[in-house]
Amino acid sequence: MGIAGDITADWHAALAALAWQVDLGVDEVIGDTPVDRYDLPEPIKPAPVAAAAAAPAAGRPNLAPALMVEAPQVDPAEVARAAAARAGSLEALREAVAAFDLCELKKGARNTVFCDGNPAARVLILGEAPGRDEDMEGRPFVGRAGQLLDRMFAAIGLARTSPDAEAALYITNVMPWRPPGNRDPEPAEVAMMRPFVERHIALMDPKVIVVMGNTPLFALTGHKGIMRARGTWTKALDRPLLPMVHPAYLLRNPSAKREAWADLLSLQAHLRGKG
Ligand code: URA
Repeated sequence: MGIAGDITADWHAALAALAWQVDLGVDEVIGDTPVDRYDLPEPIKPAPVAAAAAAPAAGRPNLAPALMVEAPQVDPAEVARAAAARAGSLEALREAVAAFDLCELKKGARNTVFCDGNPAARVLILGEAPGRDEDMEGRPFVGRAGQLLDRMFAAIGLARTSPDAEAALYITNVMPWRPPGNRDPEPAEVAMMRPFVERHIALMDPKVIVVMGNTPLFALTGHKGIMRARGTWTKALDRPLLPMVHPAYLLRNPSAKREAWADLLSLQAHLRGKG
């Protein structure tokens, strides 16, 4: 095969390799060179305290036991709870969330996505986690699902941009960081961020919470099964809560918009005091 043939073959091979990666879920490039994570050096493990104290290596100083004690295991949810409790305002909570380093998702995220909308709103919408667009922009629900969400709530006179609390929305997510490949957040990730979500809701003090999809339903009620739960008012954190299907689901299943419309009318009636 001549040079032209080689170039064509390389081009097809590269395209096939790219298509394979896209099939595996790769949706962005984060470095110029690949990293073989199976070939990284073993992390250095701290010596067990008892063995090290009993037999200091020759030529090495006998370190005081206090210096050799392994770091105590931290419970991320407890750390989050303490940090959230210290936040006395939404701005302080935003800083506390941004400073929280115990969630692995943060390492792969471009932005901490905290909230959008009017903090004086009666309605707080709780979504799942940022997607690609939200991660890039640092605001929740700005991609296609977010645009549908805006149109849905505009149909009952509510908007995140409204300065009027009666007509306004406030939007946040259970997870402030994008999970890789938009996978569902894991239960441990939800559990560790839940104290922040609870504090967020307490500080914003909405009249009504709308959860969009399974993850926020689970985070606030401990139950899954959004298709069964949707449209039925319940309570969480002492507030009325309306479960709705996620707008991303509606984009994939337009026939479900009928039920979503019924849920929006139920929200409207509730806000008018007729729910
Ligand atoms: N889906 C969500 O649940 N939240 C967002 O912010 C975007 C998409």
